Amino acid sequence: MITVVVGLQWGDEGKGKIIDYLSHRYDIVVRFQGGANAGHTVYHNNQSLVFHLLPTGIHRQNVTGVIGPGVALDPDQLLIELQKVEEISSSVKERLLIDPRCPVVLPVHKAIDGWEEELKGGVGTTKRGIGPTYRDHYARIGIRVGDTLNPDLLKSRLKLTLEFNNQILGARYGKPPFLFDDIYPELLEWGKKIKPMVRDTHKFIMDQIEAKKSVLFEGAQGALLDIFFGTYPYVTSSHTISSGALIGLGIPPQYVNEIIGVAKAYTTRVGKGPFPTEIHDETAQRLREQGNEYGATTGRPRRCGWLDLVLLKYSASINGVTSIALTKVDVLSGFPSVNVATAYRVESKTLDYPPSMTYELEKVEPLYKELQGWAAITDPKSIDDLPEELLKYIEFIEDYTSVKVRYVSYGKKSSEIIKID
Ligand code: GDP
Ligand code: IMO
Ligand code: MG
Repeated sequence: MITVVVGLQWGDEGKGKIIDYLSHRYDIVVRFQGGANAGHTVYHNNQSLVFHLLPTGIHRQNVTGVIGPGVALDPDQLLIELQKVEEISSSVKERLLIDPRCPVVLPVHKAIDGWEEELKGGVGTTKRGIGPTYRDHYARIGIRVGDTLNPDLLKSRLKLTLEFNNQILGARYGKPPFLFDDIYPELLEWGKKIKPMVRDTHKFIMDQIEAKKSVLFEGAQGALLDIFFGTYPYVTSSHTISSGALIGLGIPPQYVNEIIGVAKAYTTRVGKGPFPTEIHDETAQRLREQGNEYGATTGRPRRCGWLDLVLLKYSASINGVTSIALTKVDVLSGFPSVNVATAYRVESKTLDYPPSMTYELEKVEPLYKELQGWAAITDPKSIDDLPEELLKYIEFIEDYTSVKVRYVSYGKKSSEIIKID
């Protein structure tokens, strides 16, 4: 079974929770894009555990984790996270494979990510160096994981990339350069540490598929942050949609059996950019507090609003989702009524599809359908135990998007989920 799990909104939909729940029955979990800008939370032994770079679920002994070629790999973050997960799980390094093709995030990329924020008018990046790293990769002046295992090649590649980036730092921001003599030995040392984990992950995954193993491709961020199909320029710098898994891993499309889109029962967004259903009143505050809507990577308060079905349908379509995992329905419980946007008004027109340009999306006014709220959800054993109003909410989403909701998550623990067959 080959399953892709992706976010359908602006990230933080609860992908970590869903993947943790699913990972019980998968042999391999694979990250295919993004980097440590991701923050995927699981609840383990009564504690929140956040995966930024390591595949979610690698703390479970049955899971082999793979970091595929499409991932921007931050050397320091990798070691920090490995150490953290090793505190609660054994043989993590033995169960992790890293592709030699991964672009490496350098300290200079993180610095430039921060300095560029001003230039770009404050996209609100996580400052994890993601944009500058992929920029260098596409400009073919980047460093890849495999380069750190080859001292001579690393020397010439690092000189090239530093020359370019230091010029930007100096000329544009008046900052001192990052020095070759500092970084080169560190990267060589890092390469030695990770060498046992470096392996051609494309070959590995293809062999595992052949051997009928179950593989889960773990998306980071969400469809609306996709570099092409998101709300550009307020997006991340990778292909966050399901086909990004194919690009980031080199896996042909016909191997994918299932695409699960994760959506929150309402909407949140961190950072700048259009958000048609955003609300600013005490309801937003209530969602933020009840949903603990603070960034798992940066701690920033998340912007909150109602579910936007116009955007959800678009995301479902662009990802080709075969089912939806609806999360955080517990956060909406206790509201007398809940709104969902079913269309947009712009000037005198009504739209049931989002405009493709961000400046147009900024101008839309959402048209809402008001649905009945539901009471607290207490220990349901099956779908029949869920409040009737919640089932109507789910049915409304299914009718609108033409996609079945197969998972309903009502709490942060991996057990707090109902599977609808
Ligand atoms: P991800 O980036 O998509 O993995 O999501 P994050 O981990 O950044 O944010 C989701 C947050 O919601 C985390 O704190 C989760 O522990 C929490 N969470 C996930 N599912 C549920 C749910 O169904 N109910 C509640 N109350 N919290 C949830
Ligand atoms: P997960 O995987 C939510 C947002 C940032 C910013 C924009 C660009 O946890 O869902 P970047 O650092 O990627 O250049 O930032 O994208 N962003 C996320 N928002 N969840 C994430 O990941 C995000 N990763 C990036 O806030 O607006
Ligand atoms: Mg997150």
